[in-house]
Amino acid sequence: MHTTIPVSLQHDPERLVLLDQTKLPESELFLYLDSRDSIYEAIKKLRVRGAPAIGIAAAYGMYVCLARQSYPSLEAMAHDFSALKHYFASSRPTAVNLFWALQRMQKRFDAELAMEGASQSSMLKALLEESSAIFAEDQAMSIAIGEHGLTLFDKDKHWGVMTHCNAGGLATSGYGTALAPLYLGHEQGYSFSIYANETRPLLQGSRLTAYELAKGGLDVTILCDNMASLVMKEGKIDAVIVGADRIAANGDTANKIGTSGLAILAKYYGIPFYVAAPSSTFDLDTKHGNDIEIEQRDGEEVVNGFGRRTGPIDVNVYNPAFDVTDAALITAIITEKGIIERPTTEKVAKHLLG
Ligand code: MRU
Repeated sequence: MHTTIPVSLQHDPERLVLLDQTKLPESELFLYLDSRDSIYEAIKKLRVRGAPAIGIAAAYGMYVCLARQSYPSLEAMAHDFSALKHYFASSRPTAVNLFWALQRMQKRFDAELAMEGASQSSMLKALLEESSAIFAEDQAMSIAIGEHGLTLFDKDKHWGVMTHCNAGGLATSGYGTALAPLYLGHEQGYSFSIYANETRPLLQGSRLTAYELAKGGLDVTILCDNMASLVMKEGKIDAVIVGADRIAANGDTANKIGTSGLAILAKYYGIPFYVAAPSSTFDLDTKHGNDIEIEQRDGEEVVNGFGRRTGPIDVNVYNPAFDVTDAALITAIITEKGIIERPTTEKVAKHLLG
């Protein structure tokens, strides 16, 4: 697999270390961040991106910002914690892992605050533990998703697999979600030809997915987004597998713009459509996909991306970053706990809550 971990923590001094994904595939440039504005900017501008990685960055970011400050009291620290949490939460609206990670940090903060003899240093120790646990759990989650996902593939057959956006190692702290079964399978002698849709407008598919798969020695072919139908019709695709930014209680799944179109095409061509995501990507408070907030991004990303103007200056541009795939189009959702076939509200609840 690719070996670069996109988000980590450095000590003495405490800094959030991010691989600047806006610079890929040309260079692997690391950022060492210790201010709230630089961490917010990195999430907003997709220097770190992908639902699990955003959550880890926010959790480590909380710890770093609080560790670099000295407070007159724990109450003052609590006040700043709350302000910081709201600030980071306002960076991107769709990936629920961001809110999930911040909520975990909040719970840990509250628990420590209630402890007798709590101090600023005990609080920092607790926050370090919690953010490190989020990171470590994410690594374990990738492997478990990979193992469950691999059961959907057959070792004796050569598989053409399409993926969209980047749900690989660069979007997590480990093997990724959608790419995890492919990495594990590759290590175990399974045979894949992977088709990475380039993923307009920010090209996470060609810049990131193709980059990390090629680096890991897997066979990958880049497609323009509008080639998916042809390639499916040509019989080159046996399965589509994507990640998720938020999965509603009924299984409706928000993922990178263009995903729902692929699911519709896959159904037409009789190709299984899989979503791979950890349980932290489910949002049981959101009953239906229509209730998921879709991030709207600057139109300049569409008409002035990567240093070249490709549309007139004064024209309207629509740039939603995500769309929602109806649960009815999803063959199965793969999580670290197993597989939800043909997801429904009941199956999702049973899978997550037991
Ligand atoms: O805008 P991005 O690059 O953060 O979008 C990422 C995706 O849509 C991924 O598919 C999703 O977060 C899953 S990452 C394991």
